[in-house]
Amino acid sequence: MCGIVGYIGPKEAVPVLLSGLSRLEYRGYDSAGVAALSGGRIQVAKARGKLSNLVEKLKGGAPKGSAGIGHTRWATHGEPSDINAHPHTGASGRVAVAHNGIIENYLQLKEELGKAGYAFISQTDTEVIPHLIEECLKAEAGLLPAVVRALSKLRGSYGLAILDAQTPNCLVAARRGSPLIVGVSAEGNYIASDIPAVLPYTREVYLLDEGEIALVFEDRVEIHSAEGKRVEKELYTVTWSVDAAERGGYSHFMLKEIFEQPKALRDTLVPRVRRGSIDLSEAALSDEDLKGVSRVVLVACGTASHACLVGKAAIEKLARVPVEWDIASEFRYRDPILSPDDLCIVVSQSGETADTIAAMRLARERGCKVLAVTNVVGSTIAREADRVLYTWAGPEIGVASTKAYLTQLLCLYLLAIQLAFDKGLVSEEDYALYLRELETLPDKAETILSSTEPMRRAAELFHAQKDIFFIGRGLDYAAAMEASLKLKEISYIHSEAMAAGELKHGTIALIEPGSLVVALSTQGLVADKLESNIQEVRARGAQLLCVTYGDTDLREKLADQVLRIPRTVDLFAPLLSIIPLQLFAYHCAVLRGYDPDKPRNLAKSVTVE
Ligand code: M6R
Repeated sequence: MCGIVGYIGPKEAVPVLLSGLSRLEYRGYDSAGVAALSGGRIQVAKARGKLSNLVEKLKGGAPKGSAGIGHTRWATHGEPSDINAHPHTGASGRVAVAHNGIIENYLQLKEELGKAGYAFISQTDTEVIPHLIEECLKAEAGLLPAVVRALSKLRGSYGLAILDAQTPNCLVAARRGSPLIVGVSAEGNYIASDIPAVLPYTREVYLLDEGEIALVFEDRVEIHSAEGKRVEKELYTVTWSVDAAERGGYSHFMLKEIFEQPKALRDTLVPRVRRGSIDLSEAALSDEDLKGVSRVVLVACGTASHACLVGKAAIEKLARVPVEWDIASEFRYRDPILSPDDLCIVVSQSGETADTIAAMRLARERGCKVLAVTNVVGSTIAREADRVLYTWAGPEIGVASTKAYLTQLLCLYLLAIQLAFDKGLVSEEDYALYLRELETLPDKAETILSSTEPMRRAAELFHAQKDIFFIGRGLDYAAAMEASLKLKEISYIHSEAMAAGELKHGTIALIEPGSLVVALSTQGLVADKLESNIQEVRARGAQLLCVTYGDTDLREKLADQVLRIPRTVDLFAPLLSIIPLQLFAYHCAVLRGYDPDKPRNLAKSVTVE
């Protein structure tokens, strides 16, 4: 998704902007650009494709100046091209703007501005903004009132960095619906859409709230409301390191993050388990609150929605509370039945996914209490939800979610166990047993990661497949959904996840000699049934890759390859069974020559509908 960086201070701006943009590359983008201000003139340079294309272009002469803004664009309106790349300038060249988000009324504004004589050169929605600010500057005395006036005419979402040639001592940052921070340092101040962009320079940041506008000077920052009134705001100190956001010796972020999973599990679990009990007080969830929950609604997108599928199974099984599950993009438009007694849980790694934010707002409007499970402190979801349970996975940079998924599962298991206990549905012995088992899982994850050769070998055998089918029953089906998404999004192998019993109702028609079926087999209750489904595909010539416990006695020749995981209680198996399949997906992608950190057409954080 698009990234924004801005700088004003004693240094030359463009090198700072490029370094910040390179830290945002992981978000996914298809063009990049910078603008800098010197001698009352804004110069802009843009290039389609990777940031390296822009760097190459700048060798022929870069914009000069110690105030500038930069952008990586992920196309929404108009193809990826030099012209459509940001920053965009107004008709007179006075104002330059970098924008994340979507302006919904841009066609209407374009028409109005066109009538007033403004010519448009790009296909973007963004281009209306610099024109509009230039128009408002004619009527207002000063940049801030002009920006306030211009923003009041925009519908949609934006994170904006604005440069005005006639206000050289200041940059403007504005946020509505798209995250933006302002970094503060002794060597100048910064604007960014994401904290990693400024981490080499500062840990002190302002997290802009909805509607806020920041005037960013070299030596101070003024924050204003959407109406232009001064707002006092506290600085937030970032506690994680630059190293944590960099690859640390691994060939890809995804691989590093897969290997960080034992730590992520420990970091998420340890603070919540005290003297043999689960403590969710940080989310202001008391035993009384939990006792009163009569229905749970779980909403998320992508991988986070797969975590919710596991959460649904765990909550229903343990706490006997009905759980409704939905993907956020459907939930928000289907007029869901919600009541103030429901607990709505939204799950999001980034805390910025547009559809999940909309679902959360809808649930709150309808009177539900919303609990967010998220990984990003200060994200929109974290700030707007009634309660927050953080997944302490650390920054997840790889577009394919791995450690965030595991920690989301863990938070949902903790909730399920505590909910069941508070409702008197889990005995003290079982409660203690579940907790003891959860505490072993980081070590068990480490055991899987200590011997990854079988996953690499499986990828070597199967990476040339055209289609791969994942099957499982119960919780294995939920994990299969995630395994299938992981594989397809980074290796581009077509794959589907099926409830194993459903295969023979249609999809089995696709199975032919040589097809690969990946079977997850960790659920004792349905192990025999799954075996029959495996036999059905074997009889049609399919090859079989099986994920199961180390001590499962697999019938001779049932599988061509087996990936083993340490035994755990079946309920928690998704926390382990996904790990070998993440690695299988990773190695398939690499062997097929793709960069798993930057899958085509995808972005880390999907901040548009
Ligand atoms: O940041 P979120 O958890 O809200 O993101 C949700 C999805 O966009 C995300 O999980 C996506 O499916 C990833 N590509 C999965 O690897």
